[in-house]
Amino acid sequence: MKVVEEIVERYGSARTILDPFCGTGTTALSAVNHGHDAATTDINPFLIWLASAKTAHYPAAVIAQADKAGKAALDLARREAVQPLPEPPIHKIERWWTERARGFLCHLKAAIRETVGHSGPVADLLHVAFCRTLIKLSAAAFNHQSMSFKDSTQCAFDLEPDAGAGFLDDLAFVLGGAKQNPPGNASVILGDARDLPGCLDTRFDVVVTSPPYANRMSYIRELRPYMYWLGYLVNGRDAAELDWLAIGGTWGVATSRLAEWSPSGARWLPDDLPSVLAGIASGDNANGALLSNYVAKYCEDMSAHFDGLRRVLNPGARVHYIVGNSTFYGVLVSTEQVYAAMLRKYGFTDVEVLPIRKRNSKKELIEFDVSATWPGA
Ligand SMILES: C[S@@+](CC[C@H](N)C(=O)[O-])C[C@H]1O[C@@H](n2cnc3c(N)ncnc32)[C@H](O)[C@@H]1O
Repeated sequence: MKVVEEIVERYGSARTILDPFCGTGTTALSAVNHGHDAATTDINPFLIWLASAKTAHYPAAVIAQADKAGKAALDLARREAVQPLPEPPIHKIERWWTERARGFLCHLKAAIRETVGHSGPVADLLHVAFCRTLIKLSAAAFNHQSMSFKDSTQCAFDLEPDAGAGFLDDLAFVLGGAKQNPPGNASVILGDARDLPGCLDTRFDVVVTSPPYANRMSYIRELRPYMYWLGYLVNGRDAAELDWLAIGGTWGVATSRLAEWSPSGARWLPDDLPSVLAGIASGDNANGALLSNYVAKYCEDMSAHFDGLRRVLNPGARVHYIVGNSTFYGVLVSTEQVYAAMLRKYGFTDVEVLPIRKRNSKKELIEFDVSATWPGA
């Protein structure tokens, strides 16, 4: 993400940089590439694995071994000389991959396991390449905000005579990246950003992060193809449970739980939030009460996050939150102002809200850099 890269670049000499919402590891990778030490947390174990693999240091011998092992695994898969693993239990898997693509992926996954096992740096590199291949062979289209399906006639695999060639390209790409060992170190931690003091034991000089937005986007839903193939999800119930743990999650069971949810009252919320919530919940809006709860819970969760954040910062630390606003039934939720109010409430100073760009054609939807300084306790 270009915005994150630009902000990281601004911090010249080596610092300790935190991203409490790791995602695919953009901030941590940018930070270590610029010679900083980084830490990043996420609630999703698949993203923790991915970001660890992306930011790790790989000796030349490991890269050579991964190259050899990847080619050997592909050879096994092409010859179908390995017992294929069962297909992952993704709902309507046939919408994602053709039978032929699924067969190839099941053989390739088994061949990787047979060649290098489950874990360790060589297996990590091969599995990252496998992730790239599986998505290229799928009918998923990523050109919308949320994942959708291409026309199945555009499914790459059935146009390609040899899917194996794709895996070789992916392997070369991943190993090329792995060679550029970054100068800084990253620690990538599975943890809840609502309790940062509980998951971090050092303090930081800079925070750069793109937190979940209050826009009902489900990261679990978006990531499910990878998570099922790599065994991070084994059924829909687990997927929904994980989404409920995520701030802003609304998929599956999260929806019914939200309907029953009521504010704990334990967290500080901005004074003008109740009128926004009342506007969303107003009589004519079919799901108004549910969505009003959604926004209220999102704000409570973020309040818990900012409360804990100050306990893991060095005095003088600067924090940057790249966040977009949202609308529900025409009611604007100014997430950037909610953040600014919370930061002030928790003792941060020099709070600034800087518009960065429009998010789409809806003119009121904008992304902001909300920044502030932690003066020290
Ligand atoms: C907007 S994404 C991060 C995008 C990221 N900047 C990137 O480049 O991919 C938000 C992330 O917050 C994570 N998240 C949601 N709730 C969380 C929580 N309670 N603790 C830690 N991470 C959480 C999600 O799993 C998701 O990866």
